[in-house]
Amino acid sequence: MTHFLSTHCTFTLPKTSKSNFKYQNCSSAVTFQNPKTSHLTLKSQFRSYQNKPFTALATSTIGQDIASKAHENSNDQFLSPKNKKVMVIGGDGYCGWATALHLSKKGYEVAVVDSLVRRLFDHQLGLESLTPIVSIQNRIKRWKQLTGKTISLYVGDICDFEFLAESFKSFEPDAVVHFGEQRSAPYSMIDRSRAVFTQQNNVIGTLNVLFAIKEFREECHLVKLGTMGEYGTPNIDIEEGYITITHNGRTDTLPYPKQAGSFYHLSKVHDSHNIAFTCRAWGLRATDLNQGVVYGLRTDETEMHEELCNRFDYDGVFGTALNRFCVQAAVGHPLTVYGKGGQTRGYLDIRDTVQCVELAIANPANPGEFRVFNQFTEQFSVNDLAKLVTKAGEKLGLEVMAVSVPNPRVEAEEHYYNAKHTKLIELGLIPHLLSDSLLDSVLNFAIKYKDRVDTAQIMPNVSWKKIGVKPKTVSV
Ligand SMILES: NC(=O)c1ccc[n+]([C@@H]2O[C@H](COP(=O)([O-])OP(=O)(O)OC[C@H]3O[C@@H](n4cnc5c(N)ncnc54)[C@H](O)[C@@H]3O)[C@@H](O)[C@H]2O)c1
Repeated sequence: MTHFLSTHCTFTLPKTSKSNFKYQNCSSAVTFQNPKTSHLTLKSQFRSYQNKPFTALATSTIGQDIASKAHENSNDQFLSPKNKKVMVIGGDGYCGWATALHLSKKGYEVAVVDSLVRRLFDHQLGLESLTPIVSIQNRIKRWKQLTGKTISLYVGDICDFEFLAESFKSFEPDAVVHFGEQRSAPYSMIDRSRAVFTQQNNVIGTLNVLFAIKEFREECHLVKLGTMGEYGTPNIDIEEGYITITHNGRTDTLPYPKQAGSFYHLSKVHDSHNIAFTCRAWGLRATDLNQGVVYGLRTDETEMHEELCNRFDYDGVFGTALNRFCVQAAVGHPLTVYGKGGQTRGYLDIRDTVQCVELAIANPANPGEFRVFNQFTEQFSVNDLAKLVTKAGEKLGLEVMAVSVPNPRVEAEEHYYNAKHTKLIELGLIPHLLSDSLLDSVLNFAIKYKDRVDTAQIMPNVSWKKIGVKPKTVSV
């Protein structure tokens, strides 16, 4: 059943700006601009589905300020977290913990589902987060004590369908944010058993989530973390999920080709196909967030107390490029540039990860829709990052040097890279771009905890080419 909802917002525009607004899911829109005051009034009607209004946002050529004001001023009930329940699978991990707190603070009712297997990987490989992290139970208790907000906890493996089904029946989520996967490319390339574990854990876990939604919460919106690494590095622009191709005189819009670079990235490709299929076949609604490489540590919520502190990986298996470089600079280790260092990827601040997930939940996909957003804010090559960290480190009095180390991966070291990333901006994302102050703050964090750094864990020691069937212990 389709309803119409009226909304009415007023903005003040800078004198020089153009009032060129775009509307999403908007059946009609009228703008009135007062030439003297520059006040712009939007009056519009937004379609809703089954009594649930679609999200309606206005963005303009003058950019993010207006988008955010539209976001705040909109009457759209879909933007309200009131009574919305969000299940965060993988909520004890790097992205998941920050997201669970952020959504709880915003008023969503949150449940964390996690097997804590990530903490087990650390024990097995002899690794540790740079920052000390307390147990998930104590994290959640501290959050309750500071904010009065409850986060429910379900400890278990989503590959165990009975456990997942019970969690669904007990919590009854309106949205599921799925971070709960083995997420390291090097981990998946250690040996055969880790490759098999990664694909089993990720693909079966996601399949179980799809079945749980179908069986118990068909209206529930799945927000799934994919990766930009699914696309590889094609010699053409990367689109957001789909590409329109004309072949032998016929045209179609098809899933963008995937060229994953590890067994981990391949697990994400398989997930994407399974999710797309269930949207088509069962009418599920899903958003695949093809996330770039995340950097940074603090979010508004994690910095409220040291027991809310997030994990920060710097080792050769779980550490990601920019976070690793900051720790290397702090302890006087040369920055480890793999090969020629021309590898270019999309990056984002962890504060934008939580923002993007919030936007995806507040603006759900339609039933049957498989939506893909490229979730990153800026592109950098490894050499770019090494230069930025060298400069920031020198400002803090550190002696920083970058060296080229043999590349353990099989990947292009110099290539074309231009990936689109406009859809989240259109929904209202206000990016935290990589700045000197952010680099200073991450470097200062790394300096604060430098006594916890095990320098033996810094060099990469998982080789894409040498992977074999023999179980391997990575730790030195
Ligand atoms: N960190 C990044 O830079 C980055 C970049 C792109 C995409 N991603 C994606 O974002 C998601 C989260 O990444 P992260 O860095 O927070 O990883 P993480 O390893 O810190 O967190 C993942 C969490 O999921 C849990 N988990 C794994 N398998 C599970 C299972 N079968 N059942 C229940 N819980 C399980 C782990 O215990 C862990 O707490 C992953 O899907 C990853 O692929 C991350």
